[in-house]
Amino acid sequence: MSTIKKVLLIGQNGQVTTYLQSAFKGDETLKGLELYVAGRDVLDLADVAGIETVLEDISADMIINPAAYTAVDLAEQEADAAFTINRDAVAAIAAYCAKTNTPLIHFSTDYVFAGDANEAYLESDETIPNGIYGQSKLEGENAILASGAPAIILRTAWVYSNHGKNFYKTMLSLAASRDQLSVVGDQVGAPTYAGSIADATKQLVALIFEQGSISAGQSGVYHFSCQGQTSWAEFAKAIFVENEITDIKVNSIRTEEYPTPAKRPAFSVLNGEKLKQTFDISLPHWGTALAHCAAEIKVR
Ligand SMILES: NC(=O)c1ccc[n+]([C@@H]2O[C@H](COP(=O)([O-])OP(=O)(O)OC[C@H]3O[C@@H](n4cnc5c(N)ncnc54)[C@H](OP(=O)(O)O)[C@@H]3O)[C@@H](O)[C@H]2O)c1
Repeated sequence: MSTIKKVLLIGQNGQVTTYLQSAFKGDETLKGLELYVAGRDVLDLADVAGIETVLEDISADMIINPAAYTAVDLAEQEADAAFTINRDAVAAIAAYCAKTNTPLIHFSTDYVFAGDANEAYLESDETIPNGIYGQSKLEGENAILASGAPAIILRTAWVYSNHGKNFYKTMLSLAASRDQLSVVGDQVGAPTYAGSIADATKQLVALIFEQGSISAGQSGVYHFSCQGQTSWAEFAKAIFVENEITDIKVNSIRTEEYPTPAKRPAFSVLNGEKLKQTFDISLPHWGTALAHCAAEIKVR
């Protein structure tokens, strides 16, 4: 008999947290489990000193943390804010989880890698972030690992959905006013639909719920992105195909032609084998997930 009853979801209006809330609704496999959603008004991660008290008050049996400082370029100017939310707040959550033996599922990023590999990254590969965002997320991961909390860190990548601000929505909105677009074609990764993240996370939660916790052997970092790989330019073309937009041309450009304050990894494909081997969970191919995302908006 599991003791897990209350699951705290940190963050309310982000991409992953929004899809997690929908995925949890009315799911039979998660019966007997209460999802408690804490938005910023309840749990402000910028107030690191206040985190422990709020977590004690909520007293959850499991914590899921998709909340993060995610403004990759702005982080170059706002390093303090990025480190506060992505490292210090995460360290406080992990310390609470270690003290109370509360299982933690935390999200991290492909931006922990330099991006100079030519085959899919393993969890054990060397991490060399290119910018503040990646560095702050990596230090958050390390804080969790050092805390000894029963924790699973899910590194995902290239997240998009019909909610919030993301590449998918940007492409669709630009298509309404342009007949051609220039999109970076020399950065390779795996676009990952927030709906796929939510489905796979839900499976993980059900498993932890069943087991009662996360074992020491299961604790650690896992790669958690859709399968396959593509470039941003090819992804843009696929978005238009799935949405039956034919009157637009995508020109593939080089990274140097689209400078950004924070350097992006040129290659950030993540190998999901460890997740599959340990939990028998895998995310769909990015193309399949894209079709689901496009179908979702069509039925709305
Ligand atoms: N987006 C990507 O392409 C991508 C790629 C790789 C990894 N990831 C990781 O995946 C996770 C989910 O990303 P996402 O795309 O869902 O992010 P998102 O849409 O930008 O949402 C971020 C969430 O963090 C919350 N948040 C930010 N500052 C906060 C604070 N001070 N206190 C409380 N909550 C705060 C936001 O709250 P509000 O709703 O109140 O704004 C929002 O719910 C993150 O850990 C991110 O690092 C994302």
